[in-house]
Amino acid sequence: MHSGTFLTQFIIEEQRSIPNATGDFTGLLNDIVTACKTISHLVNRGGLIDILGAAGTENVQGEGQKKLDVISNEVMVKSLEWTGHLAAMASEEVEGIISIPSQYPKGKYLLLFDPLDGSSNIDVNISVGTIFSILRCPDGVPEPTEKDFLQPGTQQVCAGFCIYGPTTMMVLTTGHGVNGFTLDQDIGEFILTHPNMTIPEDTGEFAINMSNQRFWEAPVQRYIEECIQGKEGPRGKNFNMRWVASMVAEVYRILTRGGIFMYPWDSRDPSKPGRLRLMYEANPMSFIVEQAGGASSTSQQRILEVDPEGIHQRVPVILGSKNEVERVVAYHQEA
Ligand code: AHG
Ligand code: MN
Ligand code: MN
Ligand code: MN
Repeated sequence: MHSGTFLTQFIIEEQRSIPNATGDFTGLLNDIVTACKTISHLVNRGGLIDILGAAGTENVQGEGQKKLDVISNEVMVKSLEWTGHLAAMASEEVEGIISIPSQYPKGKYLLLFDPLDGSSNIDVNISVGTIFSILRCPDGVPEPTEKDFLQPGTQQVCAGFCIYGPTTMMVLTTGHGVNGFTLDQDIGEFILTHPNMTIPEDTGEFAINMSNQRFWEAPVQRYIEECIQGKEGPRGKNFNMRWVASMVAEVYRILTRGGIFMYPWDSRDPSKPGRLRLMYEANPMSFIVEQAGGASSTSQQRILEVDPEGIHQRVPVILGSKNEVERVVAYHQEA
C-alpha cells in the first residue's frame, strides 16, 4: 500500500488554498494527466504496435513528423476538447489554434502543448515526453483567436511535463515550487515521489548540441571552451557533458542534480532565432526551472518576459543552475 500522496489529491488540496477556486483547474489537470497516461501507454507498447517511424508528413515548422507525434497530438486533442475546461488549444503539430467543437461547452483556460518532445529519439528507445502550459483565456472572449494565446510566460497558471523514461513521471508547477510524481503502472496513479524539487545554484555539467559549435556566437563559444578546458582553464574545475536531445530529459536531469542546458541562437538559418519554441517548450520549462530556484534566459532577457509574436515562435534558451546561466548572460553583456 502506498503511503504517498496521489497527484489528484495533491492538486485538490493545493486548490483549496486558493480563494474562489471552482474546481475547474483541478478538472483540467486531471484531463491532462489522463491524456499523458494514454501517451505513456502507447510509448511503452513501442514496436509491439504499429506506432514507430515516420508519419510521412511535415508540421508547420517544416519538421518531418513521426507517427507518434501525430498520435500523441490526437490523444491530447481528443482527451481535452470535450471536457468543458478549455476555451482553445495550441500544439506544436497544428498550424493554427485548435478550437473547441461547437457541441461542447467552453472553459476559461487556454492550453498549449508539445505532445511529444524529443520525438527524434522515439525509434531509438530514449526518453521522450509531453510539455504543457496553461494560460487564462482573457475575459469576455467567446471564441479565442491566436492573439489571445500571445501572453508572456509570467502569465502561466501552471506548467508541467510528463517524461516517458524508465519510469513515467509528471513534473508540475502552479507557482508554488515544483513537485514530481511517479506513475504507478499497477494502479494507474501518479504518486508524489519528488516533493519540492530544487536546482543547485552551481554545477559542473553542461548540455548543448556540440555539432552546431561553428554557428554559435562568441559568448557561447567562450563559455563552452572554458568548460572544456576544465581544471587547467580559467574555471579551475572539470565539467561533464550530456546531450539527450529530448528537452524533457535534459530539464529532468537538471531538476535532479543541476546543470546548464543551452539551445542558443545560431547562424544556421537567420529566420530561426533558436531551435526551441517559446510557447510550448521554453515558457513552461522556464516556469518550472525558475520555480525550482534555477534561471532561464534568451541571453538578452528572462524567457518568461518575452512578448510573444506567434504561437510557433522560436527563442534561444539558456536554463538551469542559476550561477552558470548568469555567467553566460554576463558573457553576452560583456561582448
Ligand atoms: P521536438 O521533438 O518536440 O520537435 O523537440 C525536440 C527539441 C528538444 O527536445 C531538443 O532539445 C532539441 O529539439 C534537439 O535538437 P537537435 O535535433 O539539435 O539535437
Ligand atoms: Mn517536433
Ligand atoms: Mn519539443
Ligand atoms: Mn514535439
